[in-house]
Amino acid sequence: MSILLLSESLLVTATAVVGLQWGDEAKGKIVDLLTDEHDVVIRYQGGNNAGHTVRFDGQTYKLSLLPTGVLRPGVTAVIGNGLVVNPEALLKEIKSLTERGVKIDGENLLISDRAHVIFPHHMAEEAVLEKSRKGEAIGTTMRGIGTCYRDKAGRTHAIRVGDLFHTDTFQAKLQDIVAQKNTLLRAVDPTCALLNADEVFATYSEFAKQLKPHVVDTTAWLHKAMKSGRKLLFEGAQGSLLDVDHGTFPYVTSSNSSAAGIHPGSGVPERAITRMIGIVKAYTTRVGGGPFPTELHDATGQHIRDVGHEYGTVTGRPRRCGWFDGVATAYGARICGVDCIAVMLLDVLAQLDELQLCEAYDIRGERTTDFPSHVDDLAVAKPIFRKLPGWKQDITGARKLSDLPAGARKYVDTVSEIVGVPVAYISVGPDRVQTITVK
Ligand code: GDP
Ligand code: IMO
Ligand code: MG
Repeated sequence: MSILLLSESLLVTATAVVGLQWGDEAKGKIVDLLTDEHDVVIRYQGGNNAGHTVRFDGQTYKLSLLPTGVLRPGVTAVIGNGLVVNPEALLKEIKSLTERGVKIDGENLLISDRAHVIFPHHMAEEAVLEKSRKGEAIGTTMRGIGTCYRDKAGRTHAIRVGDLFHTDTFQAKLQDIVAQKNTLLRAVDPTCALLNADEVFATYSEFAKQLKPHVVDTTAWLHKAMKSGRKLLFEGAQGSLLDVDHGTFPYVTSSNSSAAGIHPGSGVPERAITRMIGIVKAYTTRVGGGPFPTELHDATGQHIRDVGHEYGTVTGRPRRCGWFDGVATAYGARICGVDCIAVMLLDVLAQLDELQLCEAYDIRGERTTDFPSHVDDLAVAKPIFRKLPGWKQDITGARKLSDLPAGARKYVDTVSEIVGVPVAYISVGPDRVQTITVK
């Protein structure tokens, strides 16, 4: 009987969209595009550190904690158990989209009762810890993401969404946690402001009231959805190289932002995923600290930043820009087990005379295509480049493969060859229609 049920649920189509670099690969655009063939869009990790921009019908939407699917009528958006949820940020995001005419209610937005809650003490703790850190800063988004995940793993200081509705135990637990956090904060920074547990309790009780219509056991809900044949689409946040286990530790985020996070962050078994799409920027960007072998500190890097509008959606920080890093991206593709890739922002490279793609690293005199597990090795990795001539032609109007100049096609083929995965989509502009589907 159980075997029959499992195989029934596996008949369902489940697609996953994951970033293969250091985030901002334009995952949101592909998720948005695919919402027309799916019924449910699920975020499985991260929080409001993510920033996904989508554009269609002349409108631009910036999403942070809300799954991109919330924009598509008829689609259910799910905030899975693997997320860390800042209720204030979430309510603000819901309000701003509602004011723009997007329907968001208890039917099309579900929040897991198992997701963890970000509190003011998480932000306060992150601020003092980043300040007191020796060496290069991680350069976090300061949204309390890492400190909340740390409390989740530590268990004793954690509060989940479901706990907010058990008023008495929530209040008692919060009193205890805030007292301990205040002691800790003052020990690191004797001048920092103290938090008031009663105020936090009152504020969060109000947030809980507003979020209540959305809160369910999303794992149970997703299993029923699969059984009834609804098609699932998983939306990765961040990128595989920011994955806490597989990324460039410690310059990572605190969740499994590669495909590794899908099962723990949603309760949907990995076996249910029938299509894994890796999202790849045609060049490389990174926000925050950590080694970046193909980084450009020159006019070409600035050109890419200007043309690609490479400034963070969440923090507004200029993104670090560099050539396409095939070693890092191929590693991301292997970790996630992608079936195909989408090559994004190809148009940004259109005006350059010559393009470079990193196909291997030289690490202390040795050529390798293995991605190093230690940041000290990555820090000394010298990229070995393959050079291609630029195509020097606007491609933003291209809608099919044959519309692309030979140079642009050669560039995409080279990306595919280095990563070792076929290309399914090519993106030539931010709008939904500026996409080439490769058969
Ligand atoms: P995500 O975090 O992976 O969803 O990516 P972001 O939304 O943070 O960053 C991608 C940015 O590139 C957004 O501003 C998109 O609107 C924009 N974008 C997406 N695809 C393209 C493209 O093909 N060309 C250009 N020029 N911009 C794009
Ligand atoms: P999307 O989903 C790019 C980076 C931060 C920092 C590191 C840790 O838009 O691709 P955190 O606040 O998560 O503890 O910061 O991770 N980072 C991102 N970089 N895109 C993102 O999300 C990111 N989310 C976090 O800049 O280096
Ligand atoms: Mg982003």
